[in-house]
Amino acid sequence: MQIKDSTFLVTGGSLGIGKATAKLLIEKGGKVAITGRNKSRLEKAAKEIGAFPIHADAGKPEDIKKTYDEFLKEFKKLDCLINNAGIGGKWNQVFDLDLEDFMNVYSINVFGAALMAKYAANLFKKQNYGNIINVSSTAGTKGFANGTVYASSKFALRGMTQCWQAELRKYNVRVILVNPSEVLTAFGDDEGKERKEVSNKLRSYEIAHTIVSTLEMDDRGFVPEVTVWATNPF
Ligand SMILES: NC(=O)c1ccc[n+]([C@@H]2O[C@H](COP(=O)([O-])OP(=O)(O)OC[C@H]3O[C@@H](n4cnc5c(N)ncnc54)[C@H](OP(=O)(O)O)[C@@H]3O)[C@@H](O)[C@H]2O)c1
Repeated sequence: MQIKDSTFLVTGGSLGIGKATAKLLIEKGGKVAITGRNKSRLEKAAKEIGAFPIHADAGKPEDIKKTYDEFLKEFKKLDCLINNAGIGGKWNQVFDLDLEDFMNVYSINVFGAALMAKYAANLFKKQNYGNIINVSSTAGTKGFANGTVYASSKFALRGMTQCWQAELRKYNVRVILVNPSEVLTAFGDDEGKERKEVSNKLRSYEIAHTIVSTLEMDDRGFVPEVTVWATNPF
């Protein structure tokens, strides 16, 4: 697709991977809306990068409807949904799992992503065109100790991606799964404090670059899944 003049909806765009992706899309001439729960952080980021802010929680169905209402009022049509919003939850072992934590994490990482995609898919079916990026994780390809809740939520996102690929290709919709390994963002920090950059670990920019590169491929082709590692993080 051509980024210039296309429209993008990025969930969780006030920090980290979402913000870096929105910024890169805007630099390439895309028209971009970003969402987030913390209003002041969202507005600050939107002003900084030139995005349209939509104050909304991707884990709340009523906010998802509001997101699309506000997006379509501003941009008229959607070319690409970037399902990026996600949280880690608690890092418990099997002995200490609790249902509330599953519900918190799944409401955003799984149910929120699914409902965001549902609205997008209905628009895309009508226009016979569209793109969805699902930001998953290497945690969604291999489990690890203390990872039950988060890893399983990302496995679910991977499974849903494959279902949507099977359902939407005939409408010229590309659904692309992106699996970053560790990226130095504010992920897991309630204050939104970003971790300090170090030269051998991934930055949000590498993931933004991956997302934009897969989108820039001519519409006749698409990358179903891509994983990004740091070359030498040790
Ligand atoms: N960082 C990593 O190492 C890593 C690795 C693999 C995959 N990922 C995935 O990459 C995605 C982005 O992570 P990140 O590292 O960029 O995290 P981050 O720095 O914590 O940023 C998360 C962004 O999402 C927003 N957000 C969180 N929950 C939201 C919700 N319910 N509705 C709307 N916005 C929401 C946050 O703003 P508010 O808090 O104000 O809502 C923030 O803008 C996540 O899906 C994560 O699972 C991250």
